[in-house]
Amino acid sequence: MTTLTIATSAYGKVILLGEHAVVYGQPALCGALRDGAQVQAVPGEGALVIPAWGKRTQAVYKDQDGSRDTLGLAFGAILLSLGASDRVLDHDFVATFAIPTGAGLGSSAALSVALARAVDQALMLRRGEPAMASAAFLAEQVFHGTPSGLDHTVAQHGGFGLFRRQRGLETVHASAVPLCIGMTGRARDTRGRVERVAELYRERPEEVGQLFHQIGTLVRDGARAVAEGDLVALGRAMNRNQEVLSGLEVSCPEIETLCRAALAAGALGAKLTGGGGGGCVIALAPDRANQVQEAWRAAGFASFVTTVGGGMARGARGTSLAEDRGTRGTSLA
Ligand code: MEV
Repeated sequence: MTTLTIATSAYGKVILLGEHAVVYGQPALCGALRDGAQVQAVPGEGALVIPAWGKRTQAVYKDQDGSRDTLGLAFGAILLSLGASDRVLDHDFVATFAIPTGAGLGSSAALSVALARAVDQALMLRRGEPAMASAAFLAEQVFHGTPSGLDHTVAQHGGFGLFRRQRGLETVHASAVPLCIGMTGRARDTRGRVERVAELYRERPEEVGQLFHQIGTLVRDGARAVAEGDLVALGRAMNRNQEVLSGLEVSCPEIETLCRAALAAGALGAKLTGGGGGGCVIALAPDRANQVQEAWRAAGFASFVTTVGGGMARGARGTSLAEDRGTRGTSLA
């Protein structure tokens, strides 16, 4: 008898420009990381297992009083969305990550998409990719509150381009963009930072609305620059975007330190990526990647280099994960 192994995967992501404002309808420039999450379905009894976190959880459908099991709730949301909550699961779903988790690189969305696909295959539901998107989006709402949909869209399809709510991802054709990714060692706080930005917007709608518009303009300028191969202009947009993000209270001291160190080492641009409050900094340093990584290492921060774009869309391979584990921040779970 042959046993078929069910193994699914989904991409990680980097936001080059436009996080937070994208929640309010502005575009964001983003690209997939080839590496992301994998989920394997093995004989078992319906548990989601994450060995790296020492986690094993059944699907949960309601908050337990006071002790919110986010992972179990996200798993439950996926089963509900796929119409599988009353099915007997005779598989466990074992998730592994090839990117740092809790770092703003889309690990929760990659997990959500890969898990939805694995459940679909294990139960032979054949619901199709749009149903995977709906299930992953529900799980992302459990993880992050009110996400824009960018993360699970890129996790599902890969690619590089401009993401807008309602319109999805529009491809921008560009050569591969090399990035240094530095880790603050502090978990990103997407839910908290998205809530804080919403609060600021409620308190000062005109001023904060202007900031969203400024970010939208920077995103469009950056997309044009990257399509024309003008990395200097892209770097400028990244630096300005970081200033606006600091004004929106989504930066933190470690992010500022990493950005300053990258620029001092010759990067063209540096900014936080994703939810902020921790997580990662991206630096654009086409000819100075070693110097940027060295500066970060000297300051105690781990980093790696990668690329986004350059035809990496939809399954083609292109990310190189040259890891440099510094003394800080290798475990962000
Ligand atoms: C998180 O990766 C990006 C944010 O813009 C939130 C979202 O788009 O859902 C901060």
